[in-house]
Amino acid sequence: MSPSPIEANLPKNIILIGYMGCGKSTIGRVISQQLNYPLMDTDHYIEEQTSTKISDIFQKQGEESFRNLETDLISQLLEQNIAKQIISTGGGLPLRESNREMLKSLGYVVWLKASVNSIFERTEKSNHRPLLNSENPKETISKMLEQRNPIYQDCSHLTIQTDDLSINDSAHGIIESARYFFSNS
Ligand code: S3P
Repeated sequence: MSPSPIEANLPKNIILIGYMGCGKSTIGRVISQQLNYPLMDTDHYIEEQTSTKISDIFQKQGEESFRNLETDLISQLLEQNIAKQIISTGGGLPLRESNREMLKSLGYVVWLKASVNSIFERTEKSNHRPLLNSENPKETISKMLEQRNPIYQDCSHLTIQTDDLSINDSAHGIIESARYFFSNS
């Protein structure tokens, strides 16, 4: 069967990276529906595989153990040579340099960038993000972004500033840019 027009030149994976609350899961879901590619959410996958909530993994085994699980998962995806998947990553997954290399080998990496204020508003009510359980979450977000933004930048083929974009516009932009990227690679 020949690919539908929307699928043409999209043979690989699209990987969404970025800080907590930048819209990776929501935008990932829309892209997944539009392209009819399965969505793999690394946080959900790790929770399913370990039957443990991420906040419990952090609390009982420590952040390093969680980072090891993330590295294992990305290595497995690479080994399996997966294709035509949308991968929404946990916000800290690109922190390890080896993970960044693997992400870039997996496909088109898109950094969903957002301002401190948008991230604060989007994460204010969530209670499943252990790293934001601080007295001053806005300050925590700001400090972490300062440290992480260059890392996200280093790892991505495309940056989308999401603050003023609708979910659909972001998804549309990513699909079109990915098509262009894959047609030239
Ligand atoms: C983390 C982000 C979370 C989750 C964990 C650690 C981080 O994922 O992986 O709490 O270090 O930024 P989301 O970005 O999907 O919230």
